[in-house]
Amino acid sequence: MKKLIVAAAMVAFAASTALAADTVVMKAKNGNVTFNHKEHSAAGDCKACHGEGTPGKLTLGKDAAHKLCKGCHETKKAGPTKCGDCHKK
Ligand code: HEC
Ligand code: HEC
Ligand code: HEC
Repeated sequence: MKKLIVAAAMVAFAASTALAADTVVMKAKNGNVTFNHKEHSAAGDCKACHGEGTPGKLTLGKDAAHKLCKGCHETKKAGPTKCGDCHKK
């Protein structure tokens, strides 16, 4: 997480590069996760999730997603951290 926060602090990024769908449904067999990309990127901090370079397609998978998504929610004490709050059947 440290690395993400440092990266986040370093950028004031012009959020004009490319547009993703407002909400994305990420498939998972234990219940799909609805991710609001628009809300999450409102701060313009693309690098928190996309890393360096131009933001584009991002494939996370279970472990990376849990680390990234839950990690930030825990750090910020905002956003869901319980299984059923992300995974909806
Ligand atoms: C909180 C994490 C997060 C932030 C912040 C974020 N993104 Fe994303 N972005 C994602 C995820 C996750 C996906 C992949 C969604 C999927 O499964 O299709 C994605 C996908 C994309 C895509 C590809 C869409 C497609 O269908 O190919 C683009 C383009 C993109 N993001 C641009 C941006 C830009 C520009 C910003 C900053 C303004 C940004 N993102 C901020 C998580 C984030
Ligand atoms: C912050 C939201 C969030 C929380 C909380 C969360 N998950 Fe996930 N989980 C995801 C995302 C996002 C994916 C990846 C989906 C993808 O890669 O398309 C995922 C993937 C998975 C997968 C893989 C599913 C598949 O079809 O391969 C399993 C299993 C899983 N999570 C179980 C859990 C369990 C158990 C908990 C509670 C301990 C939990 N998750 C909590 C967001 C979350
Ligand atoms: C850089 C920090 C950060 C990352 C990374 C992040 N989130 Fe969040 N997320 C938040 C914050 C902050 C909130 C609370 C927003 C609010 O309550 O206004 C939130 C709220 C949410 C919510 C509930 C509100 C809504 O939008 O429906 C869901 C679901 C969610 N996040 C899913 C995800 C998933 C899935 C990922 C990973 C692909 C992710 N988040 C990555 C910061 C983050």
